[in-house]
Amino acid sequence: MSKSGSKLWGGRFSETTDAFVETFTASVEFDQRLYRHDIAGSVAHAQMLKKIGVLTTDECDQICNGLAQIQTEVEQGKFDWSVGLEDVHMNIEARLTELLGDAGKKLHTGRSRNDQVATDIRLYLRDEIDSLLAELSRLQSGLLDLAEREANTLMPGFTHLQVAQPISFGHHMLAWFEMLVRDAERLEDCRKRVNVMPLGSAALAGTSYPLDREYSAELLGFERPCNNSLDGVSDRDFAIEFCAAGALIMTHLSRMAEELVLWTSAQFNFIELPDRFCTGSSIMPQKKNPDVPELVRGKSGRVNGNLIALLTLMKGQPLAYNKDNQEDKEPLFDTVDTLRGSLRAFADMIPAIQTRKENMLNAAKQGFSTATDLADYLVRKGTPFRDAHEVVGKAVQACSQKGCDLADLSLTELQHFSKVITEDVYDVLTIEGSVASRNHLGGTAPQQVLEQVKKQRQLFKRV
Ligand code: ARG
Repeated sequence: MSKSGSKLWGGRFSETTDAFVETFTASVEFDQRLYRHDIAGSVAHAQMLKKIGVLTTDECDQICNGLAQIQTEVEQGKFDWSVGLEDVHMNIEARLTELLGDAGKKLHTGRSRNDQVATDIRLYLRDEIDSLLAELSRLQSGLLDLAEREANTLMPGFTHLQVAQPISFGHHMLAWFEMLVRDAERLEDCRKRVNVMPLGSAALAGTSYPLDREYSAELLGFERPCNNSLDGVSDRDFAIEFCAAGALIMTHLSRMAEELVLWTSAQFNFIELPDRFCTGSSIMPQKKNPDVPELVRGKSGRVNGNLIALLTLMKGQPLAYNKDNQEDKEPLFDTVDTLRGSLRAFADMIPAIQTRKENMLNAAKQGFSTATDLADYLVRKGTPFRDAHEVVGKAVQACSQKGCDLADLSLTELQHFSKVITEDVYDVLTIEGSVASRNHLGGTAPQQVLEQVKKQRQLFKRV
C-alpha cells in the first residue's frame, strides 16, 4: 500500500481518499515550514508524558533522538514529504514511527493535531516576532543616525503637499522613527498573547491523562498554558493581531516609500538613492527608478489583504476547531515574509540616502515658507495676530507679483506693509532663523533634533 493509502487516522474508513480530495485538503506544501516548532512541541510533550509516567525514560529518549534525526533530515533536504500524509504533523509522526516502531506511536498520547497546530503556530510566530523586532530596531537605528547626520539639513515641510514651513530633514527622519516606535510596541504587545500555550487542550475538551501543562509550558518558554481547551484550539486572535500590527508597519513603510519616490524625482531632487537600490528601464536609457520603495509601497496591499482574509476566516466559525483554520497559515506566513523583506530593504537603504542640501534649501525658500515667522515677528512687536496675518498676506501677494521671496524685499518695501518692521526682521525671514526658532520639545530646531536623537538612543539601550 502507498503511503497515502495508510492514513494515521484510517481505522474507521473503508475506502481510500479521493486523489483530488487528498491534495485539496493537504497543507504540507506550506505548513512544512513549521517543522522545527512542531518538533520542539513534540519533544516537550514527550518529556511531559515521561514526567507523568505515561512514557518510560527509554521511550522518551528514543522519541527525542528520533525527532532530532528527523530535524536533521529536513534541514539536509533528505526528508520525503508526502501529500498523502496531509500535513507537517502527520509527516513527522509517520516518519518517527517508521524509525522507532511502537515508541513512535505513543507520542500522540493525550494530544490532538488541533492543539498541536495551534501550539506550533504560536511557537513559530513568537520567533518571527523576535526577529522582526530586531530588523525593526536596525531600521530605527539607521533613522537616528541619519537624523543626527542631517540635523542641519533644511527642507520645506509640507501640508497638502504645498510648501508650509521650513524644517530640518533630521526632524522628518525622527517623525518616521516615532511611527516605528509605536510599531515595535504593538509587536511586543501582540507577543504577550502569542505566548500562551494551547498544548494539552487536545482535540477540544482536554484529555483523560493527568497532563502537567505547566511543565510543558515551561519547557517551551510559554508564559502560561491557556485556561480553556475550546478556546485553546480555536483561537486565532493572535494571528489577526499580528497581521493588524503588520498592516500598520507596512502602512508606515509605504508612506515613507511614497516620500522617497517623490524626493528622488527630478521635480523634487531632494535625495539620491544609491544605484544598488534602483533599477533602470529597458527602453529609456536615462532612467533610474526607485523600485525598492515602490515595491514596498505596493506590498502593503497584500498585508492589508491578509488581515482581511484572517478576519473573514474566523468570523463565522463555531467552537471549536474547524478545518477552516488550516487557511490561517498562508496569510500569516505571507505577512511574515513581506514584513521581513520590506524591513530589511528599508534598514539597508536608509543609511545610504544622500541628501541634496542645496536643492532642499532652495525649495524651502520658494513658497513663502517663512510667512508664519514674519507674522509671529509682528505679533512680538505688538501687532494682534489676525492683523499680522493680514499684513503678511499682503506682502506675500506683492512678492508673488514681483516673483521674489519675502527675504528679497528691502527694509523700506517691508515697512510699507507695517511700520513696526525693523532691520532685525531678516533674522526671522531666513530659513535657518525660522527653523532654529522652533526650539522646544518636539520642534524642528536642529538643537532639538540632536537632543531627541540622544534621548532615543538612551531609551533604545534600555530595551
Ligand atoms: N493541517 C491542519 C491545520 O492546519 C492541522 C490540524 C488538523 N486537525 C484536524 N482535526 N483535521 O489546521
